Amino acid sequence: MVMRFRFNHGVPPVNVEEWGKIARRKLPGMSLSYLEGGADDLLTVEENIAAFKRWRLRAMQLTGVTNPDLSATIAGTRISIPVACAPTGAAGLSHWSADVAVARAAEKAGTRLCLSGASSYKIEEVAEATEQNHWFQLYPFSTPERVAELIARAKAAGYTALFVTVDVPTLGNREGERRWHMQPPWTVTPPRALHLMKHWRWVRDALWHKRIGGAHFLESDVGLPQPSGVMSGVAEAMKSAANMQRQMMQADLSWDDIKWFRDQWQGPMYIKGILDPDDAAKAVDELGCQGVVVSNHGGRQLERCLAPCDALPAIVDRIGDRAEVYLDGGVRRGTDVITAIALGAKAVFVGRPYLYGLAANGEAGVSSILEIFREEIKRALILMGCPSIEALDRSWLIRACPSPLGTFTQ
Ligand SMILES: Cc1cc2nc3c(=O)[nH]c(=O)nc-3n(C[C@H](O)[C@H](O)[C@H](O)COP(=O)(O)O)c2cc1C
Repeated sequence: MVMRFRFNHGVPPVNVEEWGKIARRKLPGMSLSYLEGGADDLLTVEENIAAFKRWRLRAMQLTGVTNPDLSATIAGTRISIPVACAPTGAAGLSHWSADVAVARAAEKAGTRLCLSGASSYKIEEVAEATEQNHWFQLYPFSTPERVAELIARAKAAGYTALFVTVDVPTLGNREGERRWHMQPPWTVTPPRALHLMKHWRWVRDALWHKRIGGAHFLESDVGLPQPSGVMSGVAEAMKSAANMQRQMMQADLSWDDIKWFRDQWQGPMYIKGILDPDDAAKAVDELGCQGVVVSNHGGRQLERCLAPCDALPAIVDRIGDRAEVYLDGGVRRGTDVITAIALGAKAVFVGRPYLYGLAANGEAGVSSILEIFREEIKRALILMGCPSIEALDRSWLIRACPSPLGTFTQ
């Protein structure tokens, strides 16, 4: 797709934030509030990014490093860069090509997507549109039959690892989404209609492709009649949001319930949304999970919880010798990736960065984001004199300012 860039005198965006600026221009407020939003005052969203900046990188000269090895392994899959695409539900709100475009771009870049259980395309559609394995993320739903069905479908379609997200017992206070009535009932007021008219291309694609909701929660997927008419795409998406909220959030879930997931899946399983070393130990030692993703859901759930970068060291110290620890949240630069890995993560996931690329330019935009990360990581490792991702450890980091937590000192 040809695209006119208004940045840098027609030169394509050179970093993640510049892609973000294009996405902000293109998307209607309702999509943007969902993509960029977070809990309460967005303090945690900002802190996720800021936490990386409190670290400095050691620079060793005349080391002869010219072509550092950027490869890493996530859930047994070797990937060419230590960055994978995090699960993001309703990616169709960013661009109609959604999960299929992200999975394809990830695969072409030698990495992978962890498909959200709330994806805009179905498990099978993403598998059919790509050639390699991907991973599947599941929310704990209300009915065991539904969980068992999705797990069986993911297995049958060749997904090789399951990530169970545990940090959504209820929805965080996302005021932007509430303002845009992302949570039903959804109404089109005159000012809102005017705003949507200004973003007519997005509206046209949403109505034509009908991919803005969660595909596994559509009435059609759960065997109920589909709405018809001009607004059916939007209406079904909004119904899917209501179904999702009814089905995925259960405050009374316990670790025993997660054992049931493990028994159903019987493959590599990871718990996503861990911020506390005790929880990490439970996941690994009591449930036998292969690892955890240190994450606060991109600051969309509990405001003023720990930033993943700050939570990571204690979790690595607790389980890093016997389990895989990954991180997501606030990664915007190659140097953030390097910092997380030096602190003990095996690799990282990104969410909003690839959604910016997707919103701005579909699959090609996601590819550009992943290439930006590849270039930034490679350049920084050469400048540090570090030969590979696997050579990174805490000796490559210097604290620039005291940890606000005092739990980890270099
Ligand atoms: C728009 C959006 C939708 C998300 N949907 C899901 C989801 O369906 N399942 C899930 O486990 N996490 C979801 N997340 C959280 C991401 O997997 C990830 O934890 C977060 O985006 C990382 O932060 P970052 O956006 O700063 O990279 C979502 C995040 C965003 C921004």
